Amino acid sequence: MEAAKIGVGVIGLRMGHSHLAGYAQNPHCTVIGVCDTDQALLAVRQGEFNARLAVTDYRDLLTVPEIGLISVASPDYYHAEQSIAAMEAGKDVFCEKPLTLTLKEAKEIAAAVARTGRHFMIGQVCRYAPGFVLAKRLVERGDIGKLYFVESEYAHNYRGARGVGDWRVDPRREPVIGGGCHAVDLLRWIAGDVAEVHAYANHLCLTDWPVNDFSIGLFTFESGVIGKVMVSVGCVRPYTMRSVFYGTEGTIVCDNTSADIQVCSQKNLTGGPAFASLPVNIASHNVGAEINEFIDCIVTHTPVVTDVHEGVKTVATCIAIAESARTGKSVRLKDLL
Ligand SMILES: NC(=O)c1ccc[n+]([C@@H]2O[C@H](COP(=O)([O-])OP(=O)(O)OC[C@H]3O[C@@H](n4cnc5c(N)ncnc54)[C@H](O)[C@@H]3O)[C@@H](O)[C@H]2O)c1
Repeated sequence: MEAAKIGVGVIGLRMGHSHLAGYAQNPHCTVIGVCDTDQALLAVRQGEFNARLAVTDYRDLLTVPEIGLISVASPDYYHAEQSIAAMEAGKDVFCEKPLTLTLKEAKEIAAAVARTGRHFMIGQVCRYAPGFVLAKRLVERGDIGKLYFVESEYAHNYRGARGVGDWRVDPRREPVIGGGCHAVDLLRWIAGDVAEVHAYANHLCLTDWPVNDFSIGLFTFESGVIGKVMVSVGCVRPYTMRSVFYGTEGTIVCDNTSADIQVCSQKNLTGGPAFASLPVNIASHNVGAEINEFIDCIVTHTPVVTDVHEGVKTVATCIAIAESARTGKSVRLKDLL
């Protein structure tokens, strides 16, 4: 007998559109409900994905027995409330990054995962960008020897990305948490947990926003690797997440918007140091791959890799950058977690 499909409800239908497309292509899922406070958008998405239910209050999805999984793709402020309520109602949850904007809420979500035993995945989509996936594989295979320095930049001009109702323009939403979590999580994924952070920030580009628009965070990792994250949301340039991984026997330069990554490895050198291009697909927002992995975990009862603890540690590292830039002092992660 064919296994019953997982009924899905999606909250927040702009970024949530990628979630809906991801569930629609997964053979184990069926979209049952959509939720957005914008009635016109709600009607469009309901038609597009043939959803039986369209609601403006997410709680109306939680009482539907056929829905087993809730995707939270609403503005960051709602992630904790909606994720916790969904798990308490017996649903598995896929939650957009950043997990939350505060450590208190991040820990509350982690406690709800433990209490309810539901599957939970945090959507750190850079872990699925083909260029970064290949770079990680080469690092793990030893192609560049032992890592000693990693860096990533999140340069994204937010002038046209204030969010519906300007929700991104808010003193609670430091860009280094909301957007910078992509670069921070990427480095954590490659180099492991961060031990200590020292940071600087300024506010010279988006002067009408209530938050610093530029931050530099310097890290020591538990492994002894050193790292640097740069976050600029007032930059005037095309979006990039250019990242460089330095090892004792080579260097990788990569991003999530190019059709190749650059690798220079002592192991393959015949002459002097040179970069070789390795082709990759461009898929900077590979939400389909993320969702497929989460559904596999649910179907096969295997643990989620990008779990709530990864989300908590990434948010904590971003908060450490903001705190260090504010106080001028280094922040140890073990003092936050
Ligand atoms: N993974 C990524 O690369 C990526 C990219 C963009 C956004 N995001 C994340 O996705 C989330 C949504 O961002 P966005 O770009 O779609 O924002 P957006 O402002 O474009 O859209 C937000 C949508 O949520 C709806 N909404 C607001 N409050 C709601 C509520 N209480 N209940 C239901 N719907 C509500 C709005 O009507 C709107 O349609 C954020 O957490 C953001 O950080 C992630």
